[in-house]
Amino acid sequence: MTTISAGTAVVDLNAAMAEAARDIDAALDDLLPRAEGDEARLFASMRYSVIGGGKRLRGFLVLEGARQFNVSRHAALRVACAIEMIHAYSLIHDDLPAMDDDDLRRGKPTNHRAFDEATAIIAGDALQAHAFHVLAQEATHPDPAVRIELVRMMARAAGPKGMCGGQMLDMMAEQASEPLDESAIGRLQLLKTGKLIEFSAEAGAVLGKAPSAQRHALAAYGRELGAAFQIADDLLDATASAEEVGKATAKDAGAGKATLVGLLGIERARLQAESLVAQARHHLDGFSERAEMLRALADFVIARRN
Ligand code: IPE
Ligand code: IPE
Ligand code: MG
Ligand code: MG
Ligand code: MG
Repeated sequence: MTTISAGTAVVDLNAAMAEAARDIDAALDDLLPRAEGDEARLFASMRYSVIGGGKRLRGFLVLEGARQFNVSRHAALRVACAIEMIHAYSLIHDDLPAMDDDDLRRGKPTNHRAFDEATAIIAGDALQAHAFHVLAQEATHPDPAVRIELVRMMARAAGPKGMCGGQMLDMMAEQASEPLDESAIGRLQLLKTGKLIEFSAEAGAVLGKAPSAQRHALAAYGRELGAAFQIADDLLDATASAEEVGKATAKDAGAGKATLVGLLGIERARLQAESLVAQARHHLDGFSERAEMLRALADFVIARRN
C-alpha cells in the first residue's frame, strides 16, 4: 500500500487508482458494443484492448481533475473512458508490425497477435471514432459548448499536432542519419505522449467550467507529468523486465528509438524526470488539499515499476 503524506493530508493512491480502474472498466463495458452480431469480431477486438488492463493513468487524471470542481463522477467517467479508448487505439497501432512490432501488451498478446492485422487496424480506428461519439453525447455534459470544447481538445491532442504527429517523429527518428538532440526529443515526447496526458489533466476543469487560471494550471501540470511519464517509460524499457511491465523491454536502443535515456544515459534521464515531476507539483500550488492525489500521482509516475 502506498500512502503518501504531504502537508496534513494522507492519501492512498493505490486504492484510489484501483477504484478508478474498476469504475472505468464498468463504464467501458456499458459504452462499448457487445461482442455479438455480424461485426462481433470487431467488437471483441475493441473490448480486448481497452477493457481490463493498463494503469488507467489518463482516466484517473480526468476523474481527479473533475473532482477538484465537484463534477459528477458519471460525467467524468464518460470522458475518462473516451481518453482511454484513444489511448488503447494508439497502443494497438503502435504495436503493429509496421510500427514497433510488439507481441505483448498489458501482459497478453497484442491485438494483431490475438486477432489479425486487419482487425487490429479497424479496432483502433473504431475505438478512436467511438471516443468522439461518447464525448459528443448529451450525457457527457448538458451544455453543448462544453461538449464541443472537449471534442476540439481531444481532436487536437490526438491528431497531427498531437499524438499522431509525435508518432510520426518517433518513426522517422528510427531512420534518421543523425541522432535527435535533446530539444527535438523533448518535442517528440511532448506530442506523442504529453498531449493525451495534458488533455486528461485539463478535461475535468472544462467539465467543471473552472476559472481559466485553474484550468491552465492543470494543463501545465499535465504537460510536465506527460514528459516525465515518457522518460519513465523509456527508463523502464532500459531497466525493467517484460514480466514487470507486461510488454517487451530492452528494445528501444536496438530499434534506434530517440529517447533521453539513449542520449543522456539512465542517471541523467532520471534526474530530468525528477525535475519535471517537481515542476508538475509546483503547478498545483494554488490547489487545496483535494489535489493531494494529483500530487501523489506525480511521484508515482517516476517511482512506478510497471
Ligand atoms: C504506454 O502507456 C504508452 C506510452 C505513452 C508510454 P501506459 O504506460 O500508460 O500504458 P497502460 O495504459 O498502463 O498499459
Ligand atoms: C508509444 O510510445 C506512445 C504512443 C503514442 C502509443 P512507446 O512506443 O514507447 O510505448 P510502449 O513502450 O510501446 O508502450
Ligand atoms: Mg512507439
Ligand atoms: Mg511501442
Ligand atoms: Mg516505450
